[in-house]
Amino acid sequence: MEVLDYDILVLGSGIAGLTSAIHASKLLGGSGKIAIISKLHLMRSHSIAAEGGISGVLYPSENGDTFDLHAYDTIKGSDYLADQDAVESLVASAPKEIRFFEHLGVPWSREPDGKITSRAFGGMSMKRTAFAADKTGFFMMRALYDTVLGLSNVERFHEHFATSLFVKNNKFIGLTCVDLATGAVKLFKGKTCIIATGGYSRTYGFTTTSHSATGDGTALAWEAGLPLKDMEFVQFHPTALVPNGILITEAARGEGGLLKNADDERFMQRYAPSVMELAPRDIVSRAIMTEISEGRGITQEGSGIEHVYLDLTQLGEEKLDEKLPMIKEMTIKSLGLDPSKEKIPVRPATHFTMGGIHTDIEGRVFSHDRKNRIENLWAAGECGCVSIHGANRLGSNSLSECAVWGRATGMAAAKYARVHEHGYSIGAKAMAALEEKRLERLTDRGKGNDPYAIRERLQSLMEEHMFVFRSKAGMEKARVGIARLKLQAKDVRIVDKGKVFNTNLRDALEIKNLLDLAAVSVKCAIERHESRGAHSRTDYKSRDDKRWLKHTIARKSRTGIDISYLPVVITKWQPKPREY
Ligand code: FUM
Repeated sequence: MEVLDYDILVLGSGIAGLTSAIHASKLLGGSGKIAIISKLHLMRSHSIAAEGGISGVLYPSENGDTFDLHAYDTIKGSDYLADQDAVESLVASAPKEIRFFEHLGVPWSREPDGKITSRAFGGMSMKRTAFAADKTGFFMMRALYDTVLGLSNVERFHEHFATSLFVKNNKFIGLTCVDLATGAVKLFKGKTCIIATGGYSRTYGFTTTSHSATGDGTALAWEAGLPLKDMEFVQFHPTALVPNGILITEAARGEGGLLKNADDERFMQRYAPSVMELAPRDIVSRAIMTEISEGRGITQEGSGIEHVYLDLTQLGEEKLDEKLPMIKEMTIKSLGLDPSKEKIPVRPATHFTMGGIHTDIEGRVFSHDRKNRIENLWAAGECGCVSIHGANRLGSNSLSECAVWGRATGMAAAKYARVHEHGYSIGAKAMAALEEKRLERLTDRGKGNDPYAIRERLQSLMEEHMFVFRSKAGMEKARVGIARLKLQAKDVRIVDKGKVFNTNLRDALEIKNLLDLAAVSVKCAIERHESRGAHSRTDYKSRDDKRWLKHTIARKSRTGIDISYLPVVITKWQPKPREY
């Protein structure tokens, strides 16, 4: 087996991963080597699909906005579950990161005087989202990728699928990957590792995320015995295009788009009268699903999917072309619908996972005991739960999170690698050899269950029972169903026996990851007896700060999933009823 050795391994190549590699590379200079490992070509990472923008207070002295106001909006948006020290860190660093991307070449949309312009986003009391039309993620990724290409101490491993993460005595010692082009299993050893593999929204079928959002790094951390945090909190974006789930950016509402029901009524009046369409996502998603369930939705001909409308007709063609060109292109290409003339059919879809690998404020991963940290392992971006989003993320805070914790983890790993020798990797080769055997056995199996049927069933269980509204009875059905699917998944059949681009094997491994994460998410959701943010229960309708102002920590145990709780960090903002 090929063994590769680096100072820093960056697993995942979205905005968080590439940002961390760039900062680590600068700090290490010529004295250290970095590997970026991705199951995709680096530029196909899901971050390229980010549309609406990145939050940050760029000109505080001019428009009355402040870091405290950004922090307060974020904390209120999180339904008070965010750790306030982490949020303060986010808002203080975000403006610097937006300017960093400007220096990398991101063409931010601008005011006539040249200043970076901002648009409104849900739950933000000021316009503070910088953007590059409605292709923000694409431009940020392009700038990062171009920069990475120029770094001589960074090597890129495209299309390498990670299959296991080795942690021994509270230290990361290596990981294995299948090189998809050849089928070879490789062992990557590293003095340090940064996991930046994104979220697990593909546990659901109707989602704005790409097929790659299978939470692989989070699942590998789970399998390695590391704790996960707040996994019950899954975000549903209110406006996914019906029927295909493509994201219609919240910026469309920020630019003046209106939500309307079958009676052409702006129904947000009933749910968030002071901010209407610009309420946080959990509230807008509940409003849409309530309109639909009370009979004020529309059933799409052909797909039979129920939806409401997003009306952009009043924006005019010029504004659409300038601010939302991709939305126009997508609705025309997908539905033959020109949004300057017709309303767009939309409904909520899974978009983001607030939960993830339990980290401290620096992004360092906690060990199985929940007290110590793995000293050479970090998680950044959506896969990590540093806890700035709590129970509900505000739109445009995730790109800031990726930039802020991309930098923080890259620099921390580089500092660590500079002063530590290799030497932790004893045992990694033996573990990798066992992993190679496991993958061989899996591929060689002659008969077994169809992984794709398992995935389809998983996604429909999650859609049905873990969506915008949840109940104990429904979630129990999901729990039992997923347990059954996990048993079936132990015995899957890989039909493709080849080595070269065996996407059948990759898919089966992804499906196992999805099952593990869905099981944790459901268990955490069943245990939380309240409604908070995106976790909205019909049997516990209110937020209960007395009993539930705490993070859920899930750990793998011999008997299954072990749950414990951790206090929320409050600095200045005491929980209040959340009104909009
Ligand atoms: O609607 C959007 O453009 C999504 C932004 C985000 O999730 O931050």
